[in-house]
Amino acid sequence: MATGDSDRPSTTHAPGGGDASQPWSELASDYEQARTREDSLDRLVEWPAQRDVLGDVTGLSVLDAGCGNGAKIAQLVQEGAVASVGVDVSDNFLTDAPPGLELIQGDLSDLAAVRGLAGRSFDRILFLQSFGYASDPVHALRTARAMLKDDGFVLLTRTQPIRYAIERAEENGTTLGEEYFSTSSFSYRHRSWNESVTLTKRPYTMSDLLNTFSAAGMWIESTIEPQMSPAIGERHPHKQAVLNKYGTAARTGDSFG
Ligand SMILES: C[S@@+](CC[C@H](N)C(=O)[O-])C[C@H]1O[C@@H](n2cnc3c(N)ncnc32)[C@H](O)[C@@H]1O
Repeated sequence: MATGDSDRPSTTHAPGGGDASQPWSELASDYEQARTREDSLDRLVEWPAQRDVLGDVTGLSVLDAGCGNGAKIAQLVQEGAVASVGVDVSDNFLTDAPPGLELIQGDLSDLAAVRGLAGRSFDRILFLQSFGYASDPVHALRTARAMLKDDGFVLLTRTQPIRYAIERAEENGTTLGEEYFSTSSFSYRHRSWNESVTLTKRPYTMSDLLNTFSAAGMWIESTIEPQMSPAIGERHPHKQAVLNKYGTAARTGDSFG
């Protein structure tokens, strides 16, 4: 863990099932505050890359699983998406969702069981930095796949696991290889969200992630590791330094059809 603050109380949550999601009742508003900062990596790199992969959403129905406060799916609806839904375990939702968008409290681990989603299908299903909270990742993806319309696809983004491995190697005095292939759960606090909440994460490698898609019967259409443009890097050198330190990118964006 790169960012410790032992003077502050911490809350620890185990991975798997509802427990991994539990801290979000505490983290939800801190996360949204951090995400909307002018220099957040989500604003500078991740959301622009995610939006680019989605392309024209006019007339498409979108399901955003783990949608946070719903701001991203609300933007998609304002840009032409229809009959769209955001689901999140926390209920820290926008109060002014546009017509055509429903925001529902529920568990992304089993989307078909979420109140209001039974029997519905979507053109695009998003898991943006939320897939790690699925209690059974293969089941969650199989369920999402069954809710896709013909020619639909899932857009899933996860943190590049090398980033966590570098942080743990620095903290534990170990090596990148040891940490990347470690199978032990690890504790993690996010400096810019709320350092007093400790998440316990299941480690994963890129092959683990790719094999999850195969096991769910899906194939990968394209994979991207978004970068900061040189102009944005010059405007925000401290963020460019984060990307330089942790590898090619902080996040990996994958599109699966
Ligand atoms: C890192 S945030 C990402 C939020 C949003 N997708 C974005 O890209 O800004 C992770 C989100 O997953 C949600 N979450 C965690 N566990 C969940 C679960 N079991 N079911 C639904 N949402 C969950 C959290 O409440 C949080 O909003």
